[in-house]
Amino acid sequence: MQIAIDGPASAGKSTIAKLVAKKLGFVYCDTGAMYRSVTQMAHEQGIDYGDQAAIMAALANTQIRFEPGDPDQKVFLNNEDVTRAIRLPEITNNVSQVSALPEVREAMVNLQRDIAAKQNIVMDGRDIGTTVLPDAQVKIFMIASVAERARRRFVENQQKGIDTPLKTLEEEIEARDHKDSTRAVSPLRQAQDAILLDTTELSIDEVVAKILEYVKVAQAAQD
Ligand code: CDP
Ligand code: CDP
Repeated sequence: MQIAIDGPASAGKSTIAKLVAKKLGFVYCDTGAMYRSVTQMAHEQGIDYGDQAAIMAALANTQIRFEPGDPDQKVFLNNEDVTRAIRLPEITNNVSQVSALPEVREAMVNLQRDIAAKQNIVMDGRDIGTTVLPDAQVKIFMIASVAERARRRFVENQQKGIDTPLKTLEEEIEARDHKDSTRAVSPLRQAQDAILLDTTELSIDEVVAKILEYVKVAQAAQD
């Protein structure tokens, strides 16, 4: 069974996807972490974020490895643990440029399909329902207002001791959404058969419960 969760930045995708996967005993795959890892690789090697040829050449010589973990899956670049580094502003603010490169997308989508072919999966990202897993039995397009998404990121940052003003977070979220929605290759958009879930006024538990209901319906239809 495949569950695809897409949506804009900070809508709650990874938090919810992780909990849904845990409840169902499915594997969780964070595709954003893959694009972040490629961006981290370019950063470490001093490669321009728009230089597709150089990024693809470096990627051929770099091992990106994911290890399932609780609460977060760990990410390694040639055995260097970059789990935390890929969440820093340098990466967050440049990942949309790297993820717009067609050859990078093709490589990541192939990897994601390989992972999904092996097991029951909950995968979150931007193009899972439209491109990566078009036959997923459950597709969710998760949204929330920009103000609420920035507020959630702000609270999360405070807990980590990061002090970015709310206004800056709003601007960063809007800029990333714009880049992700307007790129030429598999832009962020709702799949025709995806369920739109606005979480602006919903708690994490309420969102998880709703998705588990949709899964139940899909499972019953399969039996
Ligand atoms: O968690 P957050 O919403 O901040 O972002 P993420 O899921 O970690 O994704 C980081 C970036 O990777 C996005 O802004 C997109 O540019 C890119 N991405 C993508 O293009 N396609 C995906 N399936 C997942 C992420
Ligand atoms: O993966 P994505 O960027 O879509 O979002 P996230 O990193 O899962 O969620 C961003 C923040 O919003 C986290 O700190 C979650 O705990 C919080 N959140 C929330 O407060 N209420 C929700 N319904 C969903 C997420």
